[in-house]
Amino acid sequence: MPGLQIAGRREYIMQIRKATGEEMLALWGYQDFDTASPTAKFFYSNIADGNAVFWTLDKGGELIGELYVFFNLADKDFADGKSTAYLCAFRVKEGYRGQGNGTRLAAAALADLKEMGFRNATIGVGSAEPQNLRLYLRIGFNTKIKDCHYDPCGMDENMQPQYEETAWWLLQKCL
Ligand SMILES: CC(C)(COP(=O)(O)OP(=O)(O)OC[C@H]1O[C@@H](n2cnc3c(N)ncnc32)[C@H](O)[C@@H]1OP(=O)(O)O)[C@@H](O)C(=O)NCCC(=O)NCCS
Repeated sequence: MPGLQIAGRREYIMQIRKATGEEMLALWGYQDFDTASPTAKFFYSNIADGNAVFWTLDKGGELIGELYVFFNLADKDFADGKSTAYLCAFRVKEGYRGQGNGTRLAAAALADLKEMGFRNATIGVGSAEPQNLRLYLRIGFNTKIKDCHYDPCGMDENMQPQYEETAWWLLQKCL
């Protein structure tokens, strides 16, 4: 993206767009699919198959935000392919946080889900993440579905969801 000259400085417009599996691998520091971690392979395959979407904040070609939406997962409380979809791996690059970027990225992903006919979105949050919980509550994730020890998108070497000792919450929002 060329950028705009504003008062002698080059300003880049922040664009929210869907990105590719290759862009995800590069952002996560992998050269290619073969050298990627099990979790990265899972994300890549789901994006390639159309079961996941990678939403990004693109600032002049630099991806400063990421959020993934999975439509269908083995645990139907997270995503059931028709009414409920799961949001995860939500990150905004340090230096760009607390400026509304995460809120805007989530809003774009949620609006798209609603347009697709989904009625609910889910997201996970840990008890040691009060700031994330406040953000999720503010954008409408106000129903606790259950305590979780497995993230269906976080894979071990056998491509199975990894057990997490500390339980975290699965929250839901009506779209
Ligand atoms: C969670 C995360 C993605 C949120 O992204 P973000 O860009 O910081 O989110 P926002 O800026 O939209 O919202 C964060 C706070 O900034 C505030 N904010 C929103 N717009 C703002 C603006 N224009 N100016 C200043 N602050 C603003 C929000 O009110 C919010 O505060 P609140 O929760 O007290 O209401 C980001 O903090 C992050 O990457 N964290 C590390 C990774 C992580 O924990 N991810 C989640 C689990 S996977």
